[in-house]
Amino acid sequence: MRILGIETSCDETGVALVDERDGLLAHSVYSQASLHADYGGVVPELASRDHIRKTLPLIHQIMSDSATGPQDITGVAYTAGPGLMGALLVGASIARSLAWAWRIPALGVHHMEGHLVAPMLEDHAPEPPFVALLISGGHTLLVKVPAYGRYELLGESLDDAVGEAFDKTAKLLGLEYPGGPLLAELATKGQPDRFQFPRPMTNRPGLDFSFSGLKTFVANTVSKQAKDPQTRADIALAFEQAVIDTLTIKCRRALDHTGLNTLVVAGGVSANQQLRIALRKMADDLNAEVFYPRPIFCTDNGAMIAYAGLLRLMTGQADDLSIQAKPRWSLMDLPQISPK
Ligand code: KG4
Ligand code: ZN
Repeated sequence: MRILGIETSCDETGVALVDERDGLLAHSVYSQASLHADYGGVVPELASRDHIRKTLPLIHQIMSDSATGPQDITGVAYTAGPGLMGALLVGASIARSLAWAWRIPALGVHHMEGHLVAPMLEDHAPEPPFVALLISGGHTLLVKVPAYGRYELLGESLDDAVGEAFDKTAKLLGLEYPGGPLLAELATKGQPDRFQFPRPMTNRPGLDFSFSGLKTFVANTVSKQAKDPQTRADIALAFEQAVIDTLTIKCRRALDHTGLNTLVVAGGVSANQQLRIALRKMADDLNAEVFYPRPIFCTDNGAMIAYAGLLRLMTGQADDLSIQAKPRWSLMDLPQISPK
């Protein structure tokens, strides 16, 4: 099979072609970040309008880059949720209509399943069973994955997602949206140990997270301190360290509880270099292995959606002619992937 993948759930238009035998053939991501930066966050109406402009030209581009004609494509996968309703509808409508015109199956994919399978696009791919830490702008999930398509919730954020906490903290420090990568950059100039921030919910049992208190702690610190560049960098580092420690403690606990020795980390925040270093060290201590997507496939992209669609379309799973868009949709509600 050869699958066209389309991602439009938030502020990235991502498209890709993934082949069952030859792997990733072509992909392209257009980020709307600069469009939303003036507003300090994603403006849903602007996001939808931009997806409308960009999606078909990007599909045309990857098809010509990989010398793929419509007759070579055997299925279309698109992000059906969770995400912004208007943005989802753009990708879903285009995907469903192309599949109808080309007389091939279409499938609405869960965005977080896309993130979860992104490390499978690498040469050295993880094999279930494993524990997955999914950390994006909208979600923080720790799940046990006995097989692709079977997800057991171990823990989740009770309030802000990790990426959201990075973005809000970055805003407090005067950085542009999306601030996560900019905060990480600023933290490289910070001096360690000047500020100590809490590691929320780590000193009691359980695998849930809470990041909104940490953000408030930063807000209070920012308001009391001078706003010189060094202080801002020191605060950025203390925040990043608190988040990394918290995630590392919970991942270690999840591996201990499940008795598994493979950890998969995906979603936008998994691009964070210091987090990768800390999780790798923790995994080494436990004799466990940790897998990440390459940085471009940590954040939203079409390749992960094409791949997640391929896994399901290969087993004969497909949607009817209705256009699927579910702004809220639990990963735990997905049907299993059963071999054909
Ligand atoms: O997965 P993603 O592209 O979109 C969602 O599904 O939400 O994740 C985006 C999030 C944003 O909050 C962004 O600030 C964060 O990932 N992010 C990072 C880094 N790169 C992206 N956070 C911390 N460090 C980074 N290097
Ligand atoms: Zn995402």
